[in-house]
Amino acid sequence: MIDILPLTEEYLEETYQLEKLSFSEPWSRMTFIKELENPHSHYYILLKDEKLIGYAGMLAVLDEGHIMNIAVDRAFRGQGVGKQLVNTLLDKARQLGLIGLTLEVRSSNRPAISLYESLGFVNVGIRKDYYHYPLEDGIIMWNYFADS
Ligand SMILES: CC(C)(COP(=O)(O)OP(=O)(O)OC[C@H]1O[C@@H](n2cnc3c(N)ncnc32)[C@H](O)[C@@H]1OP(=O)(O)O)[C@@H](O)C(=O)NCCC(=O)NCCS
Repeated sequence: MIDILPLTEEYLEETYQLEKLSFSEPWSRMTFIKELENPHSHYYILLKDEKLIGYAGMLAVLDEGHIMNIAVDRAFRGQGVGKQLVNTLLDKARQLGLIGLTLEVRSSNRPAISLYESLGFVNVGIRKDYYHYPLEDGIIMWNYFADS
């Protein structure tokens, strides 16, 4: 059974553990705690048979939604979990009346770029040397709701 729920303190540790497994520069536990406390942050977890296998979050900045983070448990990638989570953020952004969703992604991160493209995001620019460990450009992507 699949459930997508807002992230709560109860699942913070599992979310943090998945973060550590997914990124070369993972967020700290404290960053997740701060995101939970921020009224403009909206984080969701995806549970399969009550086990956390993915999460995604966005921050509403004025009328823009920024995808801050998304990760799926390696054992469950390529099964549409990421797509369900980004769709949840798109629904929430529309519900909040935002103009669209934007994000940065490592230029080498083909799975993530393909995921975003499959949901209508387009490449609008580059942030030179945006990422470290390893140093890499960030691609800026946008999904403007007026275009869809
Ligand atoms: C990026 C990530 C979240 C994708 O999650 P996922 O659950 O595997 O993605 P989905 O199965 O929903 O795939 C959705 C679409 O993305 C694309 N995609 C996913 N994995 C892909 C891969 N390895 N290669 C190419 N395209 C891929 C496909 O277009 C796919 O659509 P399709 O299945 O209809 O062809 C996952 O790979 C991950 O956790 N990566 C590590 C963390 C990360 O890089 N986060 C992104 C930060 S910007």
